[in-house]
Amino acid sequence: MSFVSALLLASSLLAQGASAQYYKRLGSCPTLGCVFPPDQSDFLPGQLFDIRLEVHAPVNGSEAYNGGVPDEMFALCIQEGEGACVGAAEYFGQEEPVLEQWSFEYYEDLFAEDADNTTAVNVASKAYRAVSLFKPGDYLAKLTYYNISETVANWTVRAPSTERKAKNVLLFIGDGMTQSMITAARLIGHKSINGRYQSLMQMDQMEALGHQMTHSLDSFITDSANSATALYTGRKSSVNALNVYADSSPTPFDDPKHETIAEMFRREIGGGLGIVSTAVIGDATPAALCAHTRDRDQLAAVVYEYLYSAEELNATLAWPTSCQSPDVIFGGGAELFLAEEDAFEGRDMYAEFAAHGYNVVHNKTALAAAANDTKTLGIFSTSNMAKWLDRQVYPTNLQNKANSPTGDGSDATDQPGLKDMTLKAIDILNANYKEEGWFMMAEAASIDKMMHVLDYDRALGELLELDDTIRATLAHLKALGEDENTLVVVTADHGHGFDVFGGADTMYVAAQEDDRMKRRGVGIYVNSGLSGYQVAEGASPDNDTLVYGEQGPNFPVQWAPRYAYAAGFAANPDHREDYSVNTTGPRLPAVAVSEEDEDMVVNAYDNPDGFVVNGTLPVAYDQGVHSLTDVSVFASGPGSEAFRGVYNNIDIFFKLAGALALGSSAAERC
Ligand SMILES: *[C@@H]1O[C@H](CO)[C@@H](O)[C@H](O)[C@H]1NC(C)=O
Ligand SMILES: *[C@@H]1O[C@H](CO)[C@@H](O)[C@H](O)[C@H]1NC(C)=O
Ligand SMILES: *[C@@H]1O[C@H](CO)[C@@H](O)[C@H](O)[C@H]1NC(C)=O
Ligand SMILES: *[C@@H]1O[C@H](CO)[C@@H](O)[C@H](O)[C@H]1NC(C)=O
Ligand SMILES: *[C@@H]1O[C@H](CO)[C@@H](O)[C@H](O)[C@H]1NC(C)=O
Ligand SMILES: *[C@@H]1O[C@H](CO)[C@@H](O)[C@H](O)[C@H]1NC(C)=O
Ligand SMILES: *[C@@H]1O[C@H](CO)[C@@H](O)[C@H](O)[C@H]1NC(C)=O
Ligand SMILES: *[C@@H]1O[C@H](CO)[C@@H](O)[C@H](O)[C@H]1NC(C)=O
Ligand SMILES: *[C@@H]1O[C@H](CO)[C@@H](O)[C@H](O)[C@H]1NC(C)=O
Ligand SMILES: *[C@@H]1O[C@H](CO)[C@@H](O)[C@H](O)[C@H]1NC(C)=O
Repeated sequence: MSFVSALLLASSLLAQGASAQYYKRLGSCPTLGCVFPPDQSDFLPGQLFDIRLEVHAPVNGSEAYNGGVPDEMFALCIQEGEGACVGAAEYFGQEEPVLEQWSFEYYEDLFAEDADNTTAVNVASKAYRAVSLFKPGDYLAKLTYYNISETVANWTVRAPSTERKAKNVLLFIGDGMTQSMITAARLIGHKSINGRYQSLMQMDQMEALGHQMTHSLDSFITDSANSATALYTGRKSSVNALNVYADSSPTPFDDPKHETIAEMFRREIGGGLGIVSTAVIGDATPAALCAHTRDRDQLAAVVYEYLYSAEELNATLAWPTSCQSPDVIFGGGAELFLAEEDAFEGRDMYAEFAAHGYNVVHNKTALAAAANDTKTLGIFSTSNMAKWLDRQVYPTNLQNKANSPTGDGSDATDQPGLKDMTLKAIDILNANYKEEGWFMMAEAASIDKMMHVLDYDRALGELLELDDTIRATLAHLKALGEDENTLVVVTADHGHGFDVFGGADTMYVAAQEDDRMKRRGVGIYVNSGLSGYQVAEGASPDNDTLVYGEQGPNFPVQWAPRYAYAAGFAANPDHREDYSVNTTGPRLPAVAVSEEDEDMVVNAYDNPDGFVVNGTLPVAYDQGVHSLTDVSVFASGPGSEAFRGVYNNIDIFFKLAGALALGSSAAERC
């Protein structure tokens, strides 16, 4: 059968599948024969990956086929360029894998879900584990099944860069950060005279600017797991998946894996590795450097995978490469290390890290004093770390939290910020990898977390802290003589639909009784006014003596001006807006009607002086959600020019790998 007629048959046989919108049999597999990596996948030479094949036989529903009996005689061949298509086992020099079988159920659409009308699917599958492609060029992976059908995946092995431009790479991720948030942060953190800023964000001053598109493999809105997978592996995947394609099997640990930039950097170069986040350290963005699971909620397994080498990992999680225990791991999430809480198999993970030679620290003071020559685990609180605004401006909010990382029930009041953690991580990596260089990811996680709860002030505080960290990092690299060796890239993983549209007279809003009158307090266009944050109240416009808060320059002088910025969100639950800072802690915009009725309505205690803004999301949601927007990429240092332009999130992986010349030694093998 010719290639063209096979494709036609495949598409006519399975045409219905293409109509599936958001309720899918299996994302990324529109036909009944699935190949992972799917069509349009790119690779670096030598990058390890698994291949998963699935043949589906829906028992009933709109795609019912072959009496629910999946073909067990399916076969995959790999074709290099115009060459012959060679059986996969032979091509990769492996034994033919054993046949696996399972079943799953799904809903075809919302009507089916309302009627609890599931469609059952029987599956036959095989997985080729830990293979790689070496020769740059185009490949076809052809799955034949049911005698007459073919699913063809076009794969491309990109030519690696042969020149290593950067010794070190530092990737900053502002989780959920968009250009409109950066603009708002600049408005409140930088002084403007007659429309002209007197200082700029550090991000505004980087050498290269680009945009990346964040769509996922099977949905146009992404989550942080799926987008971090794209940034670190060069692969599109599905929501909640960390460095795997989501297959249909029941276990979250057998999905087809791919090697991350951190794993490749360790395996090929043996350089230093650092992971820094203000979130729970098992959260998606830090996790995606090392973990492989379809389910980002497997937090305990994520922490376990950080520590152990490929040889030491349990059989379920094993994979012939690993992060080989990162040199620096700083963040929150103590519950994942405490035996009596949520640690892997209830083990004392602090003790296991210490037994592997880690210096374990729990507060800012101990972090500052820590030796530079030792692997270091710094866990500074349970759950996510304190927000910049609470640490720096409203520190009493750190009390009565019972979130000490030691698990003793006291408060974690001496928490470092992103800047403290990042600078210390640089010192440790730099002291130990003078020759090989290092790779670090530092995440400002709570830009996203605070945008989710519509706490714009806390989110912008986190963003300004990120910018302050970048500024301090560039200066520190210079002081260490590493600035010309280090590529610094700043980007986000996705956005939120946040923007500022005016000013708000918070005093007037609060003084009105009626919601419609309160809205009169929102000033638009000419009445938006000027930022009341950076210039201290009472200071005249020609008095440029800035009075800084304890937080230093490039942050607002005050967070509660009478004339505040008025901002909104593209997707929100019912909530109330009064545009004033919440001084007592992160907002909680919506709450359930009652214990019996979980529909979310306005939280009566949140922004009590404000007016109701009805939601646009399904009423089950109490938070805002991610949005479609492209996000910015800023870069400075060797190799930064590659980050100019508009490209896909997966290209970030190839650009970072290019600066480090990853894959070049593998490509030489052919
Ligand atoms: C279940 O779905 C099938 C296929 O769409 C449809 O024919 C059937 O009427 C549905 N049954 C119910 C109870 O909704
Ligand atoms: C498929 O079969 C199951 C079991 O008989 C049944 O519960 C379900 O409603 C059927 N679904 C459809 C879409 O016909
Ligand atoms: C495939 O061909 C074999 C041999 O001709 C036949 O027994 C089998 O039923 C066919 N399978 C399908 C799904 O058509
Ligand atoms: C896949 O590869 C084939 C053969 O090289 C080519 O004809 C086809 O256009 C490619 N399809 C896509 C979507 O890239
Ligand atoms: C390995 O870890 C996984 C993930 O927690 C767990 O499901 C599995 O039971 C473990 N396997 C063994 C052999 O301990
Ligand atoms: C910080 O950690 C050190 C050593 O782990 C400990 O001795 C000290 O009491 C801690 N300080 C605070 C404020 O918790
Ligand atoms: C760690 O290195 C930095 C400079 O890179 C230095 O200032 C600091 O004193 C060192 N800390 C220790 C404990 O050696
Ligand atoms: C400038 O403003 C600061 C703080 O608002 C104030 O302390 C200072 O007196 C002002 N200087 C003049 C010359 O007005
Ligand atoms: C801060 O947010 C919390 C949770 O939404 C709320 O209970 C509290 O009233 C808010 N405080 C102010 C001053 O708005
Ligand atoms: C608007 O929000 C209020 C408060 O949450 C809620 O009671 C009301 O049902 C909402 N209206 C609509 C149309 O959703």
